[in-house]
Amino acid sequence: MQETAKLIVDGRTFELPIVRGTEGEKALDISRLRNETGLISLDPGYANTGSCESSITFMDGEKGILRYRGIPVEQLAERSSFVEAAYLLINGELPTRQELNRFSVMLNDHSLVHEDMRAFFENFPRRAHPMGILSSMVNALRAFYPELPERGEEEEINITFTRLLSKVRTMAAASYKISRGHRVVYPRHDLSYCANFLNMMFDSPVKPYVIDDDIVQALNVFWILHADHEQNCSTAAVRLVGSARVNLYAAISAGICALWGPLHGGANQAVIEMLNRIYTEGGDPGPFILRAKDRKDPFRLMGFGHRVYKTYDPRAKIMKAMCDRILEKLNLDDPLLDIAKTLEEVALNDPYFIDHNLYPNVDFYSGIVLRALGIPLNMFTVMFAIGRLPGWISQWKESVDDPKWKLHRPRQIYVGPRERDYAPIGERK
Ligand code: CMC
Repeated sequence: MQETAKLIVDGRTFELPIVRGTEGEKALDISRLRNETGLISLDPGYANTGSCESSITFMDGEKGILRYRGIPVEQLAERSSFVEAAYLLINGELPTRQELNRFSVMLNDHSLVHEDMRAFFENFPRRAHPMGILSSMVNALRAFYPELPERGEEEEINITFTRLLSKVRTMAAASYKISRGHRVVYPRHDLSYCANFLNMMFDSPVKPYVIDDDIVQALNVFWILHADHEQNCSTAAVRLVGSARVNLYAAISAGICALWGPLHGGANQAVIEMLNRIYTEGGDPGPFILRAKDRKDPFRLMGFGHRVYKTYDPRAKIMKAMCDRILEKLNLDDPLLDIAKTLEEVALNDPYFIDHNLYPNVDFYSGIVLRALGIPLNMFTVMFAIGRLPGWISQWKESVDDPKWKLHRPRQIYVGPRERDYAPIGERK
């Protein structure tokens, strides 16, 4: 029997269906609310609003759980690869050996970027932020790779997914090389997805890049941890823009713009900037914690807090362990890591952070990992974007396949002036 909740408006009782997810979460289905009651719901920031039913990612913010297609992210980080996790997210199941091989071959086949796009990269101002460049370039991909009407719809979509996954990685490395005035390094057919990216970033005619399996594995884990996070800001942007039935490149480009913000993907860059400031100001995090607690001060402790996690972000736990491993392996002593650990300890014992459920999130340690891999600071959010691509793609695919699909068009409660007459300019005060 359908579970319902009762809503009483002006003495009339309405029944709202209750929807249950496979993990027991419950939601009120208010899709007929306005038709039946004349009311809408008001939920700024959508903190209580489910925008869709999804079978891709499950997270429980109270328990610190994250699973892709049912599989705990901890298991994927330990045993899988980014390419396999991408396949899982997009197709719903882990690939067989044959499917994985076929997918890898496709990623290799589509890894080059049209040579004419080079002119775009070269004409951006040198100081342009790589996220702005990336979102523009991804949008431009549609012009270079138009629809393939001769292929079936499914094949066309699979080619577009593969192009995005493969070319965005190539474009990100190329933009870094061009920004430094260096020769662009092309992808190599004999390297895996992550090794290829590192080689395109760091190989040089005067210093060949030596592939290190531990570094490649660290990058795999970094990207697996970022691969999806259900209805976060950038994914919601991809679904919203995609709901107008724009092409996938345009929808992904919108997601990249949303991710750029310091409250979302840009936090990994902001964390390192904050740790650097603490370091240059003597290394004591105390004054920064005081500022973060002051409600009159807009300053926030970057890398702390999350809209959904009200406990330690499970991704941050894995990232922290990886951070220790990679610094030890590379024999690096990063003073920012010591500051990060002190800051974490102080914050986790401070009543303000305890009462507000503010724990380190994935970005708190990811910046230190990226620094250790040699990734420049302004590329940090681009690294997040490459990792989030499988999530954006799978969420877009799910939304266009959804029989309940609708153009996203929220409503509002208008609180501006009531109707008034236009005043000619000479009569205005
Ligand atoms: N430092 C200090 N206080 C904070 C912080 C923080 N990082 N985050 C939240 N608060 C306080 C906030 O001031 C508010 O206090 P009060 O209730 O006393 O006014 C309370 O906690 C609730 O904050 P909110 O802004 O209503 O919560 P939210 O769910 O909208 O914010 C957030 C989530 C991630 C935007 C926020 O925690 C934040 O700004 N964190 C820093 C930026 C960051 O690390 N972002 C990366 C998120 S993880 C990567 C990703 O998945 O995108």
